[in-house]
Amino acid sequence: MKLAAGSDHAGFSIKEAVVRRLRAQGHVVVDVGTTDGETSVDYPDFAHAVGGMVERGEAERGLLVCGTGLGMCMAANRHRGVRAAMCTTPHLAEMSRRHNDANVLCLAGRILSEEEAWGVTEVWMATPFEGGRHAGRVELIEGEGQGA
Ligand code: RB5
Repeated sequence: MKLAAGSDHAGFSIKEAVVRRLRAQGHVVVDVGTTDGETSVDYPDFAHAVGGMVERGEAERGLLVCGTGLGMCMAANRHRGVRAAMCTTPHLAEMSRRHNDANVLCLAGRILSEEEAWGVTEVWMATPFEGGRHAGRVELIEGEGQGA
């Protein structure tokens, strides 16, 4: 799968670790930065870079990491067609895929350990969208279609 990934300084080390593991699994990851954990940067710049790539179909999915995952999620969700979910547990990751067809995963770099972040990501990558009654609801997020 082709993904776009980005972080600010607070999410840098977790972004690096998760991207490394995704690539080891054979995924293609376009890393939009940031490039170190020391220089303070603005998380919306990276959220918009990744959100824009998903919106334009240049990446199937996105990964964003900041300190809490919250700011990244807010900014990415401004993009049409982006359904960004901030997940702190494998269960939330599973449900964000199964029911909400989330296409951007936002992680909390200052809260999750590397192993916890990878556990969330692995489940998120592996879980399919259930479709069915959830498909109409997901369309309603964009203001299209009828709920089921
Ligand atoms: C940076 O200090 C922090 O505000 C940012 O990483 C993120 O948590 C914002 O939502």
